[in-house]
Amino acid sequence: MAVLMIPANPLAAKQMTRVRSSASRKDHAIVKEFREGCAAPLPVLRQVAEGIAADMRKGLNGDGGHSLPMIPTFVNTLPSGLKVQLGGKDGRVIDTEFEQVAIPQDLMFGTSEELFDFIASGLGTFVQKESGKFHLPSRRLREIGFTFSFPVKQTSIDSGILIKLTKGFAVSGTVNDTVGTLAGARYWDDDAMVAVILGTGTNACYVERMDCIPKLQGHLPANGDMIINTEWGAFHDSLPLTEFDKALDAASINPGEQILEKTISGMYLGEVARRVFLKMAESGAMFGGSAPDKLSTPFVLRTHHLCAMQQDQSSDLKLVGKILSDTLGVDNCSSSIREMAIDICDAIVKRGGG
Ligand code: BGC
Repeated sequence: MAVLMIPANPLAAKQMTRVRSSASRKDHAIVKEFREGCAAPLPVLRQVAEGIAADMRKGLNGDGGHSLPMIPTFVNTLPSGLKVQLGGKDGRVIDTEFEQVAIPQDLMFGTSEELFDFIASGLGTFVQKESGKFHLPSRRLREIGFTFSFPVKQTSIDSGILIKLTKGFAVSGTVNDTVGTLAGARYWDDDAMVAVILGTGTNACYVERMDCIPKLQGHLPANGDMIINTEWGAFHDSLPLTEFDKALDAASINPGEQILEKTISGMYLGEVARRVFLKMAESGAMFGGSAPDKLSTPFVLRTHHLCAMQQDQSSDLKLVGKILSDTLGVDNCSSSIREMAIDICDAIVKRGGG
């Protein structure tokens, strides 16, 4: 039930838009239905795994009607090189240096030239700042690899055409990171054959035998191996989806695409939860029939908020209350609403983990 507190002093009324939110039966029903929709018991997981395996086979054959592109990368040897200091065959990786640079929102919707200029200048600044231990002997040129976190149809080892942008990017006028991950893994373990990315997006690549890639036969020698970029984030068949997943997809810049990615990866987890909270607010139960502006803002709730809420161990779920208030504008939540918020986060996180 939602109770609006109207102050006696009308001047204070403007500031006092606080609403006390407590859970109703309707809220419980929304959360229950959502939890059931997110459940990933063994038979469901098995069905999804079989669906992915079937699509992988079709993708390697080059048949139509499948969601996984299974892109040949033309990479057949692994590795040698990251921005790391190597200690020889036995010493492996001695040191690494890295820096994270967030891509400004406006560049996500600008031109490809602006985006790549930004990446190149960030890299230039990083190289200039490097510490002494990474300096190369004179006359030795630095060798550099570049991982591009989007699906590229490779035409050779060092050329390719961008298939599409994912993860909320929509730059215009353009032309992959799993292979870089597998290459990096080889420094630690010679037997690494598969690399999985569970980050802002999701993807996997693995080492395949050339004779198991029918779509390449006749084009390349049939012996040896090649790394295949599965682009499994695109999987969609037999994937159970809740109404919130479907609405998120419909409102996205790439509807109908990257469906597995939209249900399990970091870019989207907070947004799924926000949509559940919004329904609770709009149904009139949790928040008096109207949602605060923040709660109506897409992508305002991020994955780190979701994880922080799910891990709140305090007896009064203080952090949950703070995030609901600061991030979503839902003030003064009762303990039952806080507990339901945890249930929602838990369902999303467990489904992603499944
Ligand atoms: C892209 C993949 C990439 C993955 C992880 C997905 O959105 O389609 O190419 O490997 O994100 O960054």
